Amino acid sequence: MKKFAFALTAAALTVGAANSYAGEVEVLHWWTSGGEAASINVLKGLMVEEGHTWKDFAVAGGAGESAMTVLKSRAISGNPPASAQIKGPTIQEWGSLGFLTNLDAVAAQGEWDVVLPQVVSDVMKYEGHYVAAPVNVHRVNWMWANPEVFRKSGAELPTSWDQFLVEAEKIKAAGYTPLAHGGQAWQDATLFEAIALEKGVNFYNKAFIAHSDQTLRSQDMIDVFNTFKQVRKYVDVGFSGRDWNVATSMVINGEAAMQIMGDWAKGEFTAANKKAGIDYVCLPAPGTSDSFTFNIDSLAMFKVEGKDNQAAQQDLARLILEPEFQETFNLNKGSIPARLNMPREKFDTCAHASMDSFLASSTTGNLTPSMAHGMSTSSMVQGAIYDVVTNFFNDDSMTAEQAVDKLARAVKASL
Ligand code: BGC
Repeated sequence: MKKFAFALTAAALTVGAANSYAGEVEVLHWWTSGGEAASINVLKGLMVEEGHTWKDFAVAGGAGESAMTVLKSRAISGNPPASAQIKGPTIQEWGSLGFLTNLDAVAAQGEWDVVLPQVVSDVMKYEGHYVAAPVNVHRVNWMWANPEVFRKSGAELPTSWDQFLVEAEKIKAAGYTPLAHGGQAWQDATLFEAIALEKGVNFYNKAFIAHSDQTLRSQDMIDVFNTFKQVRKYVDVGFSGRDWNVATSMVINGEAAMQIMGDWAKGEFTAANKKAGIDYVCLPAPGTSDSFTFNIDSLAMFKVEGKDNQAAQQDLARLILEPEFQETFNLNKGSIPARLNMPREKFDTCAHASMDSFLASSTTGNLTPSMAHGMSTSSMVQGAIYDVVTNFFNDDSMTAEQAVDKLARAVKASL
């Protein structure tokens, strides 16, 4: 059966590349903000140029929580889309359920094993076979700042969380919102993991990859929760339920000084015609300059019926790894190409910093998967951490000691 599937895939690939087949791909994703939509439209355009039909299946909602719910219901009813934006260990979860199709032929032709860093290619494989194609590498531990607001407040850009609290106080006194934030569990988790990362990658990995009970209950973790609660004071009252890109626009328009967010935020600055280093500044989240929390976006391919649609799906996978797509998509998205050795000229200083940090951190061991963005652990454990983190953020009566106890118990129960 496996052999047959492979032969069919290879045949479809060859014929598809010659454009004898025009098929349809339905693509489920959650890229609906300005920068995100501009990015996914690049792929749509390339597929249409190949003669295929693109059926857009966009499910709004940052970090894809809603998209994943919709995907599950489509899969349960036996009708998954050809392709879906799935990341990290979740790819393995879908692979083990038998939903994903084999991309080895297209990967061999495009030399994916050579052009991708291993930290990326490993995630794209299920039991050694490619089942997903990576579009980018996002760095999550970033801070986006409005230099004008800092200047007017007489504040410095913070390089530690302790300093963040000092500068935030000045910014608040000057009448600005220090931290643009949206009250959604995944945004709380993004902020939380950035605070945890200041304790070092070793601590971070023990907590969010190995799930050491001792680390989850440690004094360091208590400190992380305490800092998290203090940072909460510098978020405006209207934060609850706010989308991440609306928070980014608060930094863009000078209402807020900073946002802690992955570099998809840069896509919003770019879409608003703002220039890095002039209109806005990117710097590592406080205290995390030596580390890189990675978040790789990828499109996993589901088993589909029909030669035409299979050919279209293989073409989609091929196009994703081609340099043309990797460059244009990432210029819009704010991320860096997943593909190695891409020309750097068109990318801005933030992307250069991210490229350098990606390479440097992969040699020092400081390259680590983002928990908040589904790269470090199963969706079950991630959900358990989200719940504790977001409840703590929104509950004034919960102490940090109570939070670590809840965290350790919740993680243990979902392993
Ligand atoms: C995804 C990004 C996306 C962001 C906001 C992250 O989890 O990896 O591609 O832009 O969520 O939706």
